[in-house]
Amino acid sequence: MTEKGLADVVAAQTRISDIDGKLGKLWYAGYSIDDLAEHASFEEVLFLVHHIRLPSQRELDDLVEQMVEYREAAEFITDLMPTLAEQTSPMSMLRTAVSAASAYDPDGWDNSAEAMYRKAIRITSLMPTLIAYYDRHRRGQPLVEPNPKLPHAANFLYMLSGEEPTQEAARAFDVMFTLYADHTMNASTFTARVVASTLSDIHSAVVAAIAALKGPLHGGANELAMRMLEDIGSVERVEDYVTDLFGRGEKIMGFGHRVYRTVDDPRATILRVLSRELGEQVGEPLWYEISEKVEEVVLREKGLRPNVDFYAGSLLHYLGLPTDLFTPMFAAARAAGWTAHIREQYADNRIIRPDSDYIGPRDRSYVPIEDRTEEEAAT
Ligand code: COA
Repeated sequence: MTEKGLADVVAAQTRISDIDGKLGKLWYAGYSIDDLAEHASFEEVLFLVHHIRLPSQRELDDLVEQMVEYREAAEFITDLMPTLAEQTSPMSMLRTAVSAASAYDPDGWDNSAEAMYRKAIRITSLMPTLIAYYDRHRRGQPLVEPNPKLPHAANFLYMLSGEEPTQEAARAFDVMFTLYADHTMNASTFTARVVASTLSDIHSAVVAAIAALKGPLHGGANELAMRMLEDIGSVERVEDYVTDLFGRGEKIMGFGHRVYRTVDDPRATILRVLSRELGEQVGEPLWYEISEKVEEVVLREKGLRPNVDFYAGSLLHYLGLPTDLFTPMFAAARAAGWTAHIREQYADNRIIRPDSDYIGPRDRSYVPIEDRTEEEAAT
């Protein structure tokens, strides 16, 4: 029996994260996402998903030091960036640049557990630099070097704008990084694990995950959610807009989820509050207000609830990110989970090779082309 979209199929055992779709709960290594969003930094979460425990102060200091070092891009990548900024979309840039970074990884093709961990931290640390360099190039602005004094998420905002973010903005962005860090067997994580299961290298597995995340049914939704808010433009237009969309049988981005079907996505619950707070702080509550109304109408009309990407749209906008960098930001945060899953896969590997259910014709005999009728050729 085939489950379309592999729904409910268990594809791996993992210690990294767990979801209860009925209760609307998400845990990383046993810690609830609410607890982590309130208390932990992204750096601690990165350590947690890789080690399945929280770090001591010394371990956290070591990780932070490593991450600061790994933020620096190799010269080859910086040389490549002007072309990528001119020729490619942000997600295509990220896919290409992470692939290119493999050539300059100091651990080369060493696939030992220690080298793999260093590569995981390098990839995760480097992604914001790649995205910020790309954005500065395409705007014709000078590059902003990473600031070693700033935490990972705050430094990302700093490299994009050239200004240190406010404490509130830095905290909100850090929470977003935590919320996006992992989410069990989503499409991109599964992709990464499939590639890792062939014993391909960690960069290749992350590149494949980026490719899977690029699609609008997965990572592209936060960007499309923001574009929809802009398209709607005012709270008064929400009813007509959403009704019209549903009338045309179209999907509304940032709503629905394979796992959370009857309760809120717990990440959306946290982001909803952050979006409201930041909207007020930056004096632009409109995008939050439209979002709130969209949520009300979609729940009433279709019984669908927002997923992580919906309020992420307005929040990332308030944080000053260009809309087409929302999905790359998602990738930068999810790099934590991807690399942890890839390492987990390597540690207890069997090639992932599912079966298929053949539903095509059977028992046919080859007919030479000169004897083939048009009808036969078409069947
Ligand atoms: N807008 C309108 N209708 C939606 C919808 C949406 N965002 N999400 C689901 N539905 C509808 C489906 O069309 C389906 O209707 P049907 O039973 O009449 O065919 C029903 O709700 C059940 O959804 P289903 O297709 O089974 O969901 P799924 O588990 O296969 O897909 C998503 C999950 C996330 C891919 C899907 O909800 C979606 O495409 N959402 C929009 C994209 C998005 O926000 N992605 C980010 C995910 S974190």
